[in-house]
Amino acid sequence: MGLGCTMGLRNTLVVMALLLSGAASLESQAFFNETGDLPCHFSNSRNLSLDELVIFWQDQNKLVLYELYRGQENPHNVHPKYIGRTSFDQDSWTLRLHNVQIKDKGSYQCFIHYKGPQGLVPIHQMSSDLSVLANFSQPEINLIPNQTENSNIINLTCLSTQGYPEPQRMYILLKTKNSTTEYDTVMKKSQNNITELYNISISMSFSIPPETNVSIFCVLQLEPTKTLLFSPPCNIDAKPPVPSPPVPDHILWIAALLVTLVVVCGMVFFLTLKKRKKQQAGPSKECETIKVEGTESEQTEKRVELQEPERSDEAQCDINVSETASRDKSATHF
Ligand SMILES: *[C@@H]1O[C@H](CO)[C@@H](O)[C@H](O)[C@H]1NC(C)=O
Ligand SMILES: *[C@@H]1O[C@H](CO)[C@@H](O)[C@H](O)[C@H]1NC(C)=O
Ligand SMILES: *[C@@H]1O[C@H](CO)[C@@H](O)[C@H](O)[C@H]1NC(C)=O
Ligand SMILES: *[C@@H]1O[C@H](CO)[C@@H](O)[C@H](O)[C@H]1NC(C)=O
Ligand SMILES: *[C@@H]1O[C@H](CO)[C@@H](O)[C@H](O)[C@H]1NC(C)=O
Ligand SMILES: *[C@@H]1O[C@H](CO)[C@@H](O)[C@H](O)[C@H]1NC(C)=O
Ligand SMILES: *[C@@H]1O[C@H](CO)[C@@H](O)[C@H](O)[C@H]1NC(C)=O
Ligand SMILES: *[C@@H]1O[C@H](CO)[C@@H](O)[C@H](O)[C@H]1NC(C)=O
Ligand SMILES: *[C@@H]1O[C@H](CO)[C@@H](O)[C@H](O)[C@H]1NC(C)=O
Repeated sequence: MGLGCTMGLRNTLVVMALLLSGAASLESQAFFNETGDLPCHFSNSRNLSLDELVIFWQDQNKLVLYELYRGQENPHNVHPKYIGRTSFDQDSWTLRLHNVQIKDKGSYQCFIHYKGPQGLVPIHQMSSDLSVLANFSQPEINLIPNQTENSNIINLTCLSTQGYPEPQRMYILLKTKNSTTEYDTVMKKSQNNITELYNISISMSFSIPPETNVSIFCVLQLEPTKTLLFSPPCNIDAKPPVPSPPVPDHILWIAALLVTLVVVCGMVFFLTLKKRKKQQAGPSKECETIKVEGTESEQTEKRVELQEPERSDEAQCDINVSETASRDKSATHF
């Protein structure tokens, strides 16, 4: 009887639906895998009891989600895909749809009929549009290390998963103390063919200023609300201003300085030495003459011996003198 009634009811409904089509449609939003509300907004001004009513919801394909026949749940007309997924909230005349999937987005209609002695009389109808959202995961930057360590080129990927609907844009923000630069590229999206959720990723390479600290953000711009979802920052510290080459440079400078210093010192020393030599040239000549005299005549030996204590403090001179003396000696031999 229930089935026959509903079928007959359907025919009347087509007419009634046309009459009631001006009724406003309600917007409703649900998160993926959570519960969505399909409202009916029935005021029940005549204080009818559920025993007098037939209430049901159907989707845009006319598949029945739920039916309450004179206060009794009637599962016979309910489509298998909705069995066990609904519950009726009597106080608010709202049907709750559990474990919402992306496929559940669309429009729904609720119908309320009065079951009187003359049969079913439609007394209320309401449409609602259900949209389904899934929050994308916070975008995550993954830096791809480049073999050439000191390069200022950065390669990275950014990934955000399991969201819906398709976002508008994913891009990179490069922030320095001074500036903010945006880097755009084509986002790669992959959709799970069962859940219909999207994974979004970008991969790109760009150069970073080496002299400043930079913070890299990955930003996902969501479609319906235009809200921005930021990744945690990826901080790259300024490179110390080319530190390794200048150190040897400094060392070279110091070395050069030291060398010149040594050279100058050496020259000064040499000059003072020469000066001293010149000052000692008198006595050394004396030494020479003495020695020459010594070889020339044995009589002068006494005189030489007497002069020796005077020469003791001129020992340095002695060595040089003795050489020249010996040369002189050999020279004098011929
Ligand atoms: C759906 O929710 C249940 C718990 O409510 C959870 O265990 C499951 O992982 C969720 N599935 C997805 C795809 O989020
Ligand atoms: C509605 O009817 C119920 C009994 O069916 C009664 O208890 C209730 O007080 C009525 N409410 C109003 C507002 O008339
Ligand atoms: C999704 O994000 C919105 C806003 O950020 C938040 O209010 C809501 O609780 C989130 N829902 C889920 C299921 O994470
Ligand atoms: C490393 O960076 C250089 C630029 O310095 C770039 O030409 C090269 O493609 C990068 N290599 C990789 C493997 O990313
Ligand atoms: C870095 O990016 C360049 C240009 O997009 C690409 O050719 C190269 O393969 C990337 N290197 C790595 C290690 O992903
Ligand atoms: C910051 O801005 C100043 C002047 O606007 C400029 O001289 C300086 O080079 C900038 N620094 C960086 C790191 O861009
Ligand atoms: C999306 O990302 C999740 C988590 O990383 C992964 O398990 C899943 O296979 C990805 N799905 C697609 C369609 O790429
Ligand atoms: C979903 O995609 C996988 C491969 O990515 C494929 O093996 C599977 O048959 C697809 N399922 C449906 C229902 O299309
Ligand atoms: C960069 O950041 C580090 C700390 O992470 C800080 O010590 C340094 O002074 C910063 N350099 C510049 C140029 O801002």
